Amino acid sequence: MESVRPRIFLLGFGGVGRTLARRLLEKGPIRAPGWNVVAVADSRGVLYDEGGVDLAEALRVKETTASLGPAGARAWDAREALARVVPDIVVEATLSDPLRGEPGTGHVLQALRGGADVVTCNKGPLAVRYVEVEQALRESGRRLRYGTTVGGIVPILETLVERLPAAEITGVDAVLNTSTQFVLHRLGCGLSFPQAWEEARRLGYTEPDPRRDQEGWDAAMKAAILHNLLFGRPIAPADVRREPLTPDSEARALRAIQNGGRLVSLTRVRSGQASVELTEVDADSHWVLPGGVNRFCIETRRAGTLTLEGRGAGPEETASGLLADLLTLLRGSGPSSASPPIGERYSLPRPAWTPAGAVG
Ligand SMILES: NC(=O)c1ccc[n+]([C@@H]2O[C@H](COP(=O)([O-])OP(=O)(O)OC[C@H]3O[C@@H](n4cnc5c(N)ncnc54)[C@H](OP(=O)(O)O)[C@@H]3O)[C@@H](O)[C@H]2O)c1
Repeated sequence: MESVRPRIFLLGFGGVGRTLARRLLEKGPIRAPGWNVVAVADSRGVLYDEGGVDLAEALRVKETTASLGPAGARAWDAREALARVVPDIVVEATLSDPLRGEPGTGHVLQALRGGADVVTCNKGPLAVRYVEVEQALRESGRRLRYGTTVGGIVPILETLVERLPAAEITGVDAVLNTSTQFVLHRLGCGLSFPQAWEEARRLGYTEPDPRRDQEGWDAAMKAAILHNLLFGRPIAPADVRREPLTPDSEARALRAIQNGGRLVSLTRVRSGQASVELTEVDADSHWVLPGGVNRFCIETRRAGTLTLEGRGAGPEETASGLLADLLTLLRGSGPSSASPPIGERYSLPRPAWTPAGAVG
């Protein structure tokens, strides 16, 4: 029997989107079950081909001209393209905005309401507009996978949402902003503040706008997502108490080192409150991590503390997580689906993937 290949729209063709496109082109075991990317968009253009966009050519165009705008692209913006293409799966990898949640939320809502399943690494929708997204999910009956919005490749959200609810989670403490963690780590290795940020940017750890990291917005978005998934009463990133990393922090980090300690940016999430604060810890504390590593300690009433640790960002790590989420949708995985609709802690398995047209 000929298998149906869902039509995928790759929305956002930056560091993560392009890395995902390269992974889709690779001939590896992960390639199954066959991709059909019919549209690719950046902020200035949309490539659309029902027969499948030539991803190698799209990468070449983007990398030589920095834009999909020229070279046969449609004069549509992403919203118009979504309406015309009516894809089966949208991969949303545009910018994470901590105040309005746009453009990501508009894309996610439109995709779900149009009958598409969505995979996203964009923090905006769940951090800022949680209620609307949850409502659109319930009303549309479609699926949203968002495992990379917190922790990159570290399966923190899957663990919280699928594995631990019955253990009664009471809170999460974490080092979860990879770039500030990296910068504080490199200050400890003798680099200056600007040198450390430049290295973090070069390694792809920073947000497109690095002020999002320095001012604590990236961590605040992640804290809001954790809170909203765990505790039901949504908060926004603006509700999270934030302590920015400023040039003054360099002196503080150096003082901490002289005192035999380290400065870390610690995120705490409890019911009704969340914070991101620079905190001095002992040099041998488990919060002192190698560059690029995130750590999550999950407190539960019935199962003690669980710890997850790993590389929390970077285009390869994030694209790997997106790919895993995409595969789960394509395989229509059953009871073990790691990302039930948000808000449904004990959701029933969804049916296997069905084309958008088959949804009533
Ligand atoms: N990098 C990481 O390690 C990491 C980890 C976890 C999550 N994330 C999240 O993943 C997302 C992508 O990150 P990134 O590093 O790939 O960022 P990026 O390199 O800046 O890419 C963002 C892409 O979104 C496109 N875009 C922006 N506004 C758009 C619009 N209105 N319509 C269509 N496309 C639009 C941009 O277009 P142009 O190319 O034309 O500017 C660009 O292609 C962000 O939300 C980020 O927070 C990243």
